[in-house]
Amino acid sequence: MSSVGSGTEAEPYELDLPADLEIGTATSAWQIEGAVAERGRSIWDDFALRPGAIKDGTTGEPACDHVHRVDEDLNVMKWLGIDAYRFSISWPRVLPDGTGDVSTDGLSFYDKLVDGLLERGIKPVATLFHWDLPSSLEAAGGWPARDTAERFADYAEIVGAKLADRVDRWATINEPWCAAFLGYAAGWHAPGRQDDAASLAAAYHLMLAHGLATQRLRSVGARNIGIALNLIPQVPETPGAAAAAHHLDLLQNQFWLDLLAGRGVPSELMAATRDITDWSFVRTDDLPIISAPIDWLGENYYSIARVAEVGAGGEGGNGQDANAYPGAPACSFAPRPPVTDMGWEIIPSGLVDILKVAAAALPGVPLWVTENGAAVPDVVEGSHVIDPIRTEYLRSHLAAVLEARELGVPVRGYYAWSFLDNIEWAEGWTKRFGIVRVDPDTLDRYPKNSAFWLRDALARRKQNLPD
Ligand code: GCO
Repeated sequence: MSSVGSGTEAEPYELDLPADLEIGTATSAWQIEGAVAERGRSIWDDFALRPGAIKDGTTGEPACDHVHRVDEDLNVMKWLGIDAYRFSISWPRVLPDGTGDVSTDGLSFYDKLVDGLLERGIKPVATLFHWDLPSSLEAAGGWPARDTAERFADYAEIVGAKLADRVDRWATINEPWCAAFLGYAAGWHAPGRQDDAASLAAAYHLMLAHGLATQRLRSVGARNIGIALNLIPQVPETPGAAAAAHHLDLLQNQFWLDLLAGRGVPSELMAATRDITDWSFVRTDDLPIISAPIDWLGENYYSIARVAEVGAGGEGGNGQDANAYPGAPACSFAPRPPVTDMGWEIIPSGLVDILKVAAAALPGVPLWVTENGAAVPDVVEGSHVIDPIRTEYLRSHLAAVLEARELGVPVRGYYAWSFLDNIEWAEGWTKRFGIVRVDPDTLDRYPKNSAFWLRDALARRKQNLPD
């Protein structure tokens, strides 16, 4: 690992990190762990076997083989100098059938991970659900079924009882929008269903699961409990797209924020989807559970959505399609250049905008950017990985966080997505988000120039700290 990120390249990327902004990196279980035979099956294992579901035919094995290389990965994190590491816990690794018997080995893996982080001075930040629902629970109805939320709460308590004394911060659910609408409406993600009514019930039950799990985590002493959303500004590109952008905003942003804020499901959304569902799965006594105060809110930010009339847009970015928004008026998407490999417009000001929205919706709740990063083409020269676009992406979005803080938005942390190149869901290995390269043949880890840049910025910050 030589210091390729220093010297002439470092200068344009300078940024002074404040001492009170927690800097970390993030990953998720299915995307990196591998060791599939050592756990129960998840809907992503099943989905991966469907011909064509994942672009390059990738399956969860070996992924980054993180389970077997955890010490090496921890050492790379230590070398980076990050304050915190956000990982997710695989539900079927802890409970192979989703419920019932606990896998001692599975739970021990996370126990070891948490201790390994603490030994290296890195705060463990655990996410309980990052989309890998146990297959047996999908067979029993999946997220459209209320019972799945109850099973999630049981699982949360089991994990909390083991790790609450050492985990610094908990996220219950990661991006419930993706789990509900990419999974059950568009069908591009596991479990690959296309059923709008089911997707709306799934969205609601994911939030109920969040509320129930929050209660149970607190009952076993867990602290700093929140949720990670992917709020996305929906910007009408043409005046005729305003109604569509508004509907998308209801599903992408307002639904989650209104539930968390205790306002319930937006009545406008209920009216606009009346032909799809009667919303009879909503119970009035759920709302206090779902809206119980959270200690923090996570925002995973990558881009904005520019919504256009049909025919007025171009090719939307990954996931940008009206099919992922039940009841949406026909529309298209028109990202403006520059875009990343995901087709997502690079626009740091959108992060400032959406952080302001979140802060206004949940006053007094501190915010964390729990994911932010870019899939871009890397130039690999031996052990050097040259990725100036990613470095500039990270720098400009960190600068946006600092701008939001100057405006009074309480942002306390920023985690780069991702620590490692990993399986980008339905895109397989075709998109690489890591600041650390994973060699496709050997699985060896090589910090990219962006990792050297982040490390330098963190080291500079430490030098500037008062004694
Ligand atoms: C998400 C997930 C990550 C993705 C990343 C890039 O935000 O979709 O949390 O697992 O890999 O966002 O798409």
